[in-house]
Amino acid sequence: MEGKGEPRIIDYGESTYKRDFWGEGREYEDRAERFALQRLIPPQGARVLEIGAGFGRLVSQYRHFREVVLLDYSDDQLRDARRTWGDDGFQYVAANWYHMPFADASFDAVLSVRVLHHAEDLPALMDEIARVLAPGGIYVLEFANKRNLKAIARYVLRRQAWNPFDPQPVEYHPLHWDFHPRWMHDLLRARGFAIERRLTVSHFRAEPLKRLVPARALARADAALQWTGRYFQLTPSVFIRARAPGSPTPPTERLVFRCPTCGAAPTPEAGGLRCDACGVVYPLRDGIWMFKSPQALVGGERSHA
Ligand SMILES: C[S@@+](CC[C@H](N)C(=O)[O-])C[C@H]1O[C@@H](n2cnc3c(N)ncnc32)[C@H](O)[C@@H]1O
Repeated sequence: MEGKGEPRIIDYGESTYKRDFWGEGREYEDRAERFALQRLIPPQGARVLEIGAGFGRLVSQYRHFREVVLLDYSDDQLRDARRTWGDDGFQYVAANWYHMPFADASFDAVLSVRVLHHAEDLPALMDEIARVLAPGGIYVLEFANKRNLKAIARYVLRRQAWNPFDPQPVEYHPLHWDFHPRWMHDLLRARGFAIERRLTVSHFRAEPLKRLVPARALARADAALQWTGRYFQLTPSVFIRARAPGSPTPPTERLVFRCPTCGAAPTPEAGGLRCDACGVVYPLRDGIWMFKSPQALVGGERSHA
């Protein structure tokens, strides 16, 4: 799944993701995901980072942290988030997740929901997450599970060529991957993460059922089953709480930026930051730190998920 050179990035630039994807018909999934996050996100903390935060759909689940940082490649999505959540205790960062503009150990919690399936080079992204998490920090992640009941049935009935039991990720649509739970666990453990909790989510993601049963009731039934993820995972979505190695240590006192081009510490200047080491300027535009580097702009692709 790793591309040559810089991994490709999916383009949510001016997408109508909020309206088209979450506008209608996904209340059940949204509610079920919130139940899972309530169980996995620490009840208090200093600084949390959401990677691929989009328009900030899930902010209410972790806004109790003293400081919240939303990172997304799309500044349009972040502008939308900022309109909803404002600036008090929030920072908005437009950047590529393969080159996060933060010093090591900047966060005591990191979250990624509905984003890993867009990572062409997930091992590289995991390395970045492990770098920016403080020792003993919590990483809450969701991934799209290739070994789900629907995929198994389709494979058995010969309606799908790829094997859901093969541990390798499958690119089922350009820049959309499904992962095998074992592959994901190995990836986390190779970076020293301890898996503390695993929940299965979206047990009832079937259109006829969603039409028949009110979303609230279906999500409550889902919540009642999520614990079974500890023993087996056959749902399309799996949530994990993993802990970084080391004894819990508070993150850096204030958020320290790092130049995503050369790794040096940029210095503040009017309207943004300048890296004296490599000369790149990162403006603060409409309250959003613009860290997108020109070399990262490799082949965008519109998403349908
Ligand atoms: C499916 S959306 C999920 C948004 C949010 N997590 C949610 O659940 O509502 C995926 C997000 O990942 C962002 N994204 C994709 N590739 C990225 C990259 N290389 N760096 C940063 N963000 C990226 C997209 O811009 C998009 O907002």
